[in-house]
Amino acid sequence: MNILLIGGGGREHAMAWKIGQSPLCERLYIAPGNAGTGLCGENININPLDKEAVGSFVLEKDVQMVVVGPEEPLVKGLGDYFSGSEKLRDILFVGPSSKGARIEGSKSFAKEFMQRHGIPTAAYRSFTRDTVEEGVDFLKSLDPPYVLKADGLAAGKGVIICSSEGEAVGTLMEMLCEDKFGEASSTVVIEEFLEGVEMSVFVITDGRAYTMLPSAKDYKRVGEKDTGANTGGMGAVSPVPFAGPELMGRIEESIIKPTVNGLYKDNIPYCGFIFFGLMISGGMPYVIEYNVRLGDPEAEVILPRLESDLVELMQAACRGRLSEHRAIISPRYALTVILASGGYPGDYKKGFEITGKGDVREGTLFYSGVKSQDGRLLTSGGRVIAVTSLGGSLEEAMDRTYRNAAAVDFRGMYYRRDIGRDLLKKPYNNH
Ligand code: AMP
Ligand code: GLY
Repeated sequence: MNILLIGGGGREHAMAWKIGQSPLCERLYIAPGNAGTGLCGENININPLDKEAVGSFVLEKDVQMVVVGPEEPLVKGLGDYFSGSEKLRDILFVGPSSKGARIEGSKSFAKEFMQRHGIPTAAYRSFTRDTVEEGVDFLKSLDPPYVLKADGLAAGKGVIICSSEGEAVGTLMEMLCEDKFGEASSTVVIEEFLEGVEMSVFVITDGRAYTMLPSAKDYKRVGEKDTGANTGGMGAVSPVPFAGPELMGRIEESIIKPTVNGLYKDNIPYCGFIFFGLMISGGMPYVIEYNVRLGDPEAEVILPRLESDLVELMQAACRGRLSEHRAIISPRYALTVILASGGYPGDYKKGFEITGKGDVREGTLFYSGVKSQDGRLLTSGGRVIAVTSLGGSLEEAMDRTYRNAAAVDFRGMYYRRDIGRDLLKKPYNNH
């Protein structure tokens, strides 16, 4: 079949790389794609938020499956556009409708959903401009640190953790009354701070059945030892060594099953990925956030470990037949490190030549902010390349990835040298 993949980051390069390996895939198009996806299929210059343009392209090129990488087109109703059009409704569409995408697109919706279905998450209340004074009183009733979340999509920047009450009250006022995140912060969720370790699990679901994909841990802060500004993610490891069968069993029973069943009970059809951002606190898992997509850079460690045919799984999900499938996952470790432009996540320069890809061994480079020009590769974003290697142990995956990272070069290149290092400490099975 012909497949259209929406998006243009490292996650989409990893998805295109995996989709391209499927015997079910005839032609692969990526909109808009990047220099990496261009190695796996044909990049198409279409804005993924332009629903009519996406729909026309699908009809013109006889595309039978659309796979959406990022959340924004889903939250903005690309799935609804397809299901609402007579000509497009039979196209296999991997990603929820805007109703399903609200589990990522609205934090207060997600919290209500979790409460309704008894899914463990931090205690919370939500506030709007009209209830700002109650919000201030609520903050005063809590102990620090304070967690404030813009309700809507805020490009990953909408969560603010404040250490003092004064800072928290000031931030709440800015979010609600000064439009700190625009429309996204017209509602703010204030929630209990959970202490613990973070990890993520992923499933693909048809809305009734699901199959687990590999777990992962990402590294969000720009600096080593988790210091400095938050980023989209500076590296990731899969599997999560401390998530043994007991913890994974708890995650499935208390979080994954009630979430998939909850969507069904709430009459929300859902075909696609769910990414559960979790905090493990006192050995118990809590949901910090849902995402309706794979993560970036998590996809760059998950997909290399997936032995099953991703297209087959996605096709089964769209046809409501996932109960007949199970994802086969390699027992090997995968580790990815992001090579970033100097200055990221703040200001950085672009257009520097990338060299050394020919020296990469036992690993894959997934391009994120890379463009190809006159046969040269140039940096074109903050996160430039995700360098991934597999290994029989975490140490082996780490050694290979870092050897490959050192082979690549561009002016101002920065990467964290400690991805996965915290996970080498044994024993792992303390949860
Ligand atoms: P999110 O954008 O929802 O993933 O939140 C960003 C980061 O904020 C998470 O990865 C956590 O590190 C942190 N965070 C969010 N909610 C909480 C919470 N209730 N307690 C502690 N940390 C949190
Ligand atoms: N790496 C986190 C995310 O994709 O949301």
